[in-house]
Amino acid sequence: MKWFLLALLALSALICGCSSGDVNNDDDHSAPADDDTHAVDDDAAGDDDTLNPDWYRTATFMQIFLRSFYDSNGDGIGDLRGLIVKLPYLAELGIGAIWLNPIYPSPFFDSGYDVADYEAINPDYGTLDDFRELLDRAHELGIRIVMDGVFNHSSWENPWFVESRSSRDNPKHDWYVWGDEPLFDCHDPLEPEFGQDRWTFDETVGQYYYHFFREQMPDLNYENADLREAVKNVVRFWFDLGVDGFRLDAAHLYYQDAEYCWNHPKTHAFLKELRQVADEYGDRVFVGEVAGAPEKVIEYLGDGRDELQAIINFNLTYGFYASYFLHTPWPIETMMDLTYERFPPGGTHAVYQSNHDFYRMFGLLLGDDDWAKMTSVVQLTLPGIAFVYYGEEVGMTNGHEVVVDYRDAARTPMHWDASPTAGFTTREPWIALAPNHATHNVAVEDGDPHSLLNHYRRVIAIRNARPVLAEGSYTPVVADSNHVFADLRQSADDSLLVVINFSAKPQEATLDLSPTSWGGRVGTPRDLYSGAELPHLDAFSAAAYPVSLPAYGFVILELVGD
Ligand code: NOJ
Repeated sequence: MKWFLLALLALSALICGCSSGDVNNDDDHSAPADDDTHAVDDDAAGDDDTLNPDWYRTATFMQIFLRSFYDSNGDGIGDLRGLIVKLPYLAELGIGAIWLNPIYPSPFFDSGYDVADYEAINPDYGTLDDFRELLDRAHELGIRIVMDGVFNHSSWENPWFVESRSSRDNPKHDWYVWGDEPLFDCHDPLEPEFGQDRWTFDETVGQYYYHFFREQMPDLNYENADLREAVKNVVRFWFDLGVDGFRLDAAHLYYQDAEYCWNHPKTHAFLKELRQVADEYGDRVFVGEVAGAPEKVIEYLGDGRDELQAIINFNLTYGFYASYFLHTPWPIETMMDLTYERFPPGGTHAVYQSNHDFYRMFGLLLGDDDWAKMTSVVQLTLPGIAFVYYGEEVGMTNGHEVVVDYRDAARTPMHWDASPTAGFTTREPWIALAPNHATHNVAVEDGDPHSLLNHYRRVIAIRNARPVLAEGSYTPVVADSNHVFADLRQSADDSLLVVINFSAKPQEATLDLSPTSWGGRVGTPRDLYSGAELPHLDAFSAAAYPVSLPAYGFVILELVGD
């Protein structure tokens, strides 16, 4: 099982000398004061003339695999008009931005990550006009739209590649990576689904082309200046339409050669050029999908303002797996120390539990609602940008049918109600539903105050009301139980103490608040989630402050009355 391998990898990374080191309580990842003059007044999110370049830092994102969200025309496939219909649901949930998996035309060898046309919409999903309407409706509701930027490779059906492979003299021949023989070997043994052979011979031009992923997905050649310009123009095309940003697919792989398989210095140089394109607009974001060792992925944040605004923190997600199965917070604490705490000022990360590339966390948690509530509180109270995966909020588990590859387990239709098609479509869905659709769906959970859905609504509301959770400094607090995680989140005008029990058994723990700012305060901690009040805190109790939590229990505390 790949997840098991990942958890093992995470653990080995932790064991092989990645000690937790010093905690810098003063770290401030808030964006540096922006003294740029924005040349373009193009505020996508409304008529307001004031750009907000930092909107993404506090927004709660939802990642949506559109094919499976909501089918508006009864063909069994989710589409843009279906998403428009469901926008009010997302707004009510407290979602501030959507990341859409690829919605471009695609032969679907890799579920849309093989892009056949960078400036069009897959007819399965609708039209460019539907997309414009989506942008308008979403922006009216205060929801931003972030696309998937798949710029490491295209589909072999993309006209760029069709031209490139038509002859060695074609002006676009050099837009892809060709060699008279395989030039280097960068295959990743952890990704067997993409095959072992990275070079495919093309009869017409009598050369091999390079593809890090499938043979139907040739890599773009970033050594070519025209190609680099073409990619920037694709980005401008969508920014001009009003798109708020891109999640950059496989952004650590743009340049590969015999010396560097990933993290090539030239990749960093290009991403810095791309950042300048975002800066032309003033309020657009790039979130990089960059994998690798913590110290390498941090480099994609540049100096905090000249490369990517945010990176997806896979290492932290591996820490989640390890923590949840070992029932202890130390893997998470260690990963936070190795990543977030070492970011340059201004740099931040996307924090996720589940996505389209892996089994859903809810399934891995054995469908345990209380466990899932607890893990969602970890995700939604850690600093950074929370990326919730569609259906996570109702506890969708993994599906069993494979249409493209094993990752389809996490790409099944959204559960809207308990009907046979889960309210996703009026016909046969394009892939079988996940097995728990009758119990874990929006309609059933809406009416249950204790449901996972209403829990998500409540926690996201807290997160949105208290930006300190997204942006404030992060200080781990020492507890005398190996199962209890506590961290103090602080900004100039707010501070919250989060305490979470990772164990399936109740825990009585004491926290040492004395080295933190709450060690010097007096008052009654009050749980924003339940309204419960905890024992009085003062100078005498701060060094061994008692907290009692049920199995997988948690509190998000503010201090009242000092
Ligand atoms: C990462 C994407 O998340 C994954 O789904 C895809 O297969 C590869 N990149 C290739 O685009």
